[in-house]
Amino acid sequence: MQPENLLLQTDGPVALIRLNRPRQLNALNDALMDELGQALAMYDADEAIGCVVLTGSDKAFAAGADIAAMASKDYMQAYREDFITRNWERMRSMRKPVIAAVAGYALGGGCELAMMCDFIIAAEDARFGQPEIRIGIIPGAGGTQRLPRAVGKSKAMDLALTARLMDAAEAERAGLVSRVVPAARLLDEAMDAARTICGFPRHTVMMAKECVNRAFESPLSDGLLFERRVFHSLFGTHDQREGMAAFLEKRQPGFENR
Ligand code: CAA
Repeated sequence: MQPENLLLQTDGPVALIRLNRPRQLNALNDALMDELGQALAMYDADEAIGCVVLTGSDKAFAAGADIAAMASKDYMQAYREDFITRNWERMRSMRKPVIAAVAGYALGGGCELAMMCDFIIAAEDARFGQPEIRIGIIPGAGGTQRLPRAVGKSKAMDLALTARLMDAAEAERAGLVSRVVPAARLLDEAMDAARTICGFPRHTVMMAKECVNRAFESPLSDGLLFERRVFHSLFGTHDQREGMAAFLEKRQPGFENR
């Protein structure tokens, strides 16, 4: 059954999730985030899927958490229902890669959702920001933690304290996005990147993702040890032998995901 706030489609091993509340600029409410969590869980468990692309509309990836839905919350309600944590954290536990394809606004929770993805490809008209301070709150889905890790303290403070928006060129210079492409090319570029990823051994992709994420969770020496153990483990796989043999024999590898 199609969810109400998302459009789901697959193209071979790539799953495309489109946030679909266009009249609210894809403002993220509980219903949408519940559906997103379910879709992510479904694709993570699906053997046929190797990579997920998450996108919005031409005007907005997402303009933030739904202000109308949270305006009347009080402290005890936010705490007791574990607002944000409860249904936004599924993205964090995705084992398969998720690429954010961002056009238009990625603000507040929209910017935070994009940052939870593994990398961001932006259209030239994309605009990023954490303007929550304008409505009397602070970022609540990781913005104060992930943004400084991505762009450094000075720019993260600037965005969070002044509420100014950053365009795609600045976001690329700052390291928040991996590539900027013309708006008309955005989805093709993201789907091509996803297909490229799906051409590599599935377990190697997942292990590479785990290792890069480890860099944000541990001191360098622990991260290096983690990487080294994973690296060593890949010498026990068929696809390592196949990949290296194919290179030496100047042919395309035939990976078997084992
Ligand atoms: N929540 C609920 N509705 C939203 C919304 C949001 N975050 N963002 C936009 N909308 C709605 C508007 O209310 C409007 O609805 P109506 O047509 O019914 O009036 C519709 O989407 C279109 O928006 P605008 O008319 O405002 O469009 P615009 O082009 O003039 O401006 C915008 C676009 C600059 C993105 C502006 O909509 C805006 O500033 N939105 C709010 C951005 C924001 O503050 N985001 C942070 C939210 S808090 C958060 O995300 C907390 C967290 O960390 C998780």
